[in-house]
Amino acid sequence: MKKHILVVSYSQTGQLDNVVKNFIAPLEQNDTTIQITYRNIEPIKPYPFPWDLMTFMDTFPESVHLNGCDIKNFKDDETNYDLVILAYQVWFLSPSIPITAFLKSKYAKQKLQNKPVITLIGCRNMWIMAQEKVKTLLNNIGAKLIDNVVLIDRGNSLETFITTPRWMLTGKTNSLWGMSEAGIDPKQINNTKRFGKAIVEALKNDKEKEHISLLQGLKAVEVNSKLIRSEKIATKSFHIWGNLIQKLGKPGDIKRKPVVILYLMFLLLIIVTVVPINMIVQSILRRTNKDQVQVEKETYEQPSGNGDERMKEFMLDE
Ligand SMILES: Cc1cc2nc3c(=O)[nH]c(=O)nc-3n(C[C@H](O)[C@H](O)[C@H](O)COP(=O)(O)O)c2cc1C
Repeated sequence: MKKHILVVSYSQTGQLDNVVKNFIAPLEQNDTTIQITYRNIEPIKPYPFPWDLMTFMDTFPESVHLNGCDIKNFKDDETNYDLVILAYQVWFLSPSIPITAFLKSKYAKQKLQNKPVITLIGCRNMWIMAQEKVKTLLNNIGAKLIDNVVLIDRGNSLETFITTPRWMLTGKTNSLWGMSEAGIDPKQINNTKRFGKAIVEALKNDKEKEHISLLQGLKAVEVNSKLIRSEKIATKSFHIWGNLIQKLGKPGDIKRKPVVILYLMFLLLIIVTVVPINMIVQSILRRTNKDQVQVEKETYEQPSGNGDERMKEFMLDE
């Protein structure tokens, strides 16, 4: 019997579409045994790309408060899917607004309930809190998260702090001042085929029915311990300011503008003053709390983990 796979995604620049294409390629090659249905989320009012700074910042309250947006309905289908792959990007430490909208839709409730779900994230490098929110949204509709794969932009945190926003605000990905190009390394994207291969193997053996990880041992995810505390602090700040801004009006409302600008200035001030001091304090705390930090890291890496024991088996012949 054919296995039916539902692939749901949204991409602005096409980067995540490319990740999905590579990830799924081995499944596409098994089209006699596997049938794939692609569902591309389309907001009724599309988000701009490249972004202007004001619209970009004005998006954070609805992102962090998981409001969603109006999206086009998917075609009705009667398929009872065996496995769901949900590809998403992070907006302000939360799932992007179109992804939240999908996870709150009737279609998601109908199709994902009791189904094994693999999340596939492509983002700058801060995804931990977003995935916690996605876990809650999946839980709310009774879906079973069995794996999480994360790809992050090339370059260190300092570089991507410049290259990713520059890409979002200008569309430019080229190298600047000797820094890495923006976005995920194409080699990493190509290498996601290992996950597709492992899924093909798992489907042959009905492993998806067990609702257990199919992608362990393939270096699916790596938590950067240095970012855990920063993500938690920033999430709190986003929630408080987001709440205030939402009280002033709907997205794009002129009344929100002064507070959004004030928050942007506040953020920049914090980044050049508090963040460097906090980084030093956190690095001391991490050293004194090594065991606790390791437990936290491993918890956020679940369910797929950071092991590499199956890499040889599924890595491409390059
Ligand atoms: C409004 C907005 C907010 C973003 N916030 C984050 C973030 O909090 N963490 C992160 O790692 N990446 C963040 N990014 C980068 C995206 O996760 C993603 O890498 C980028 O949008 C490209 O994805 P796409 O073209 O496939 O949509 C943000 C991007 C946008 C547009």
